[in-house]
Amino acid sequence: MTPTLYETTLRALAAADPDLVVMTAENRAALRSLPPLLGDRFIDVGICEQTMIGMAAGLALRGRKPIVHALAAFLTMRAYEFVRTDVGIAHLPVKLVGGVPGFLSDGNGPTHQAIEDVAIMGGIPGMKVFCPADEEELAAALPALLADPSPCYIRYTGARPVVEHPLPGQPHRVEVVAGDRDGRDTVAILTHGLLLGQALEARRRLAAEGVSVRILNVRMPRPLDADPVLAAARDTELVVTLEDHLHSGGLHSILCELLVARGVRVPVLPIDLGDRWFQPALLPDVLAREGFTGEAIAAKILDKLGARVPRGGNGVRSNAADPSIERSQALWARARTLIPAGTQTLAKGPGQYVDGVAPKYLARGKGARVWDVDGNEFLDMTMAVGPLSLGYAYPAVDDAIRAQLEDGITFSLMHPLEVEVAELIRDAVPGAEAARFSKTGCDVTSAAVRVARAFTHRERVVCCGYHGWHDWYISVTDRNAGIPQSTQDLMSTFDYNNLESVLDAVDDQTACVILEPMVFEAPRDGFLAELRRICTERGALLVFDEMWTGFRLALGGAQEKFGVTADLACFSKAIANGMPLSALTGRADVMRLFDKDVFFFTTFGGEALSLAAAAATIPELRNKRVPEALASRGRKLRDGYQAIASELGLGWTRLIGMDARTMVAFDASAGNGLHLKSFVQQELIRRGVLWTGFHNLSYSHTDSDIEYLLGAYREILPQLARHVADGTVAGALRGKPVEPVFRKTTKFNTKPKAAR
Ligand SMILES: Cc1ncc(COP(=O)(O)O)c(C=O)c1O
Repeated sequence: MTPTLYETTLRALAAADPDLVVMTAENRAALRSLPPLLGDRFIDVGICEQTMIGMAAGLALRGRKPIVHALAAFLTMRAYEFVRTDVGIAHLPVKLVGGVPGFLSDGNGPTHQAIEDVAIMGGIPGMKVFCPADEEELAAALPALLADPSPCYIRYTGARPVVEHPLPGQPHRVEVVAGDRDGRDTVAILTHGLLLGQALEARRRLAAEGVSVRILNVRMPRPLDADPVLAAARDTELVVTLEDHLHSGGLHSILCELLVARGVRVPVLPIDLGDRWFQPALLPDVLAREGFTGEAIAAKILDKLGARVPRGGNGVRSNAADPSIERSQALWARARTLIPAGTQTLAKGPGQYVDGVAPKYLARGKGARVWDVDGNEFLDMTMAVGPLSLGYAYPAVDDAIRAQLEDGITFSLMHPLEVEVAELIRDAVPGAEAARFSKTGCDVTSAAVRVARAFTHRERVVCCGYHGWHDWYISVTDRNAGIPQSTQDLMSTFDYNNLESVLDAVDDQTACVILEPMVFEAPRDGFLAELRRICTERGALLVFDEMWTGFRLALGGAQEKFGVTADLACFSKAIANGMPLSALTGRADVMRLFDKDVFFFTTFGGEALSLAAAAATIPELRNKRVPEALASRGRKLRDGYQAIASELGLGWTRLIGMDARTMVAFDASAGNGLHLKSFVQQELIRRGVLWTGFHNLSYSHTDSDIEYLLGAYREILPQLARHVADGTVAGALRGKPVEPVFRKTTKFNTKPKAAR
């Protein structure tokens, strides 16, 4: 008789440890070759399991290490009382190996097998429960289990492995079989034992449906290795517990206890036996009849996902054709006449995307991926035009929002979060001696302008960049209808990095100079410091509009990055990972005017969900060193793009901007910039990338996302180069090209002082 792997492992362990004793109660299936090999350290007590448990406890009290073998049913049901009192309470190092647990008995009924064993054994204080998936996993775990002074119940299996185990010999740890989405899988399946194979089969079938599955082999459900389980609950849309067990007491109960204790919410789908027994038969028949085949499991999961996860469209890969955008177009047809401009945010509007090729409406986002209403998946390089510093549905932030939602959204008095977030901002932002909140970027840029006018008793404002839709700023653009001439007359602009134009615009009537401290050009020759000096000299306040730079260029924004402190600074976008919150910070003596003289109040200013989001986002940005991570990924992208362009000899394109937010620039020599951009956009859309010329990086963009995007550029730029050389870019467009981008920092409606 050739010994099995389990037997040879036990024999080797017995040879190394004279205290090890192998026991059974006439249940020798797993031990056939051991009696002659172990001699008097093999004890068969006959059919009297209870006696065996008592004996094992007695031996353990005398320093021996017994491994007891019986049918799982005898251990769990008949000997339970003995296990609980003799072994459990004394915490003796007895290992209880249960044969035919779960579905494993080929034909015996409830007298010989146990499907409630995890619950029963797991209910004994101090008892560990180990559920290996195969004999290799079992054998690899034995040394660690024997070295552990706790009692342990082992669900015996002699099955062959279906997967290579990443953590052999570490039975206390959950093994994660990763999905194919870089940690952004849609579903997590928690399982163990023989069903690991069925889970793998379900995963294969779900992958074909575009659903990425991560599998957690929970070898030791009690005590649970919580971290990978919590990570799966946070990272995925649905957690499935798959077990050959009753509904209560097994994996499903254990998972729910953990989620409740940690306050984590995620939909959970239990696939188990419910509260009924099953009809014993040969294993394949049991699996089919009870709905535990890979196919049946996949179908249950798809059913549960339902409309939550649109499937079947183009994905983030090289798709053969443009995505189907039928539903997008149908929504657009309804919106066209009902919603003027169609959009609430210009940069999200149809004018920024190739009409007829690009989707118009998104339904869902996770990490750096989005799904449109037709079910197409995209890697998103726009990230809601800035707010998603961490990523879509970022667990730490969403959990904070949900927790706050339980308590309320907007209140009749002030909320403590107003104080807490103000303190977080004060600690992060240079010069933030005081802070006020509002909802939009232009709320706070307009408040800054008003308070600057009140503080200086001057009315003129000098700006550079984009600051929002309110009268004072938008009057300097060609979209100035409806704004009184008197408002326009108070405004001037200057060119970034051009001190001459600043000196020309700022005079003794200037209340403030407001600018984005950096957009796509870095400050040259100490431009910001000079600006600071000029403002101080001429008695104007310096206001930094840090919508893009704040909490992104550095945690403390451009003020920290460039070492220049403005009098006032305006923040929004990155601060609350997608929730509507803006903040105005600055000098206490200026901000004090908001006490009485300057009116700046709004119903939703202290709305608590957004503040809760900021209270979760800001520490996360700091602790995970997000600005540094964005810069490093941005540099990788910039270097990669530059390398492709120079390999191809394309002197007319490069990436400009700060690392965390770059833009693809085309020289006029290459042709119509809007056509070039439209071509790149349509080709990226076919490859599953949503792009409007910018790379607005979030913490959820991974290195492999960057590599994927670079791979796409490597394919697209040579095609573009050919069209540029042949003058055929416009002809290669499959839809209507994009329209001009509205904002520009240099020479954009410059209205110098002389023209006033
Ligand atoms: C630099 C800058 N300032 C101000 C604003 C206005 O912010 P909001 O659209 O939230 O009013 C924006 C918006 O894009 C911006 O980019």
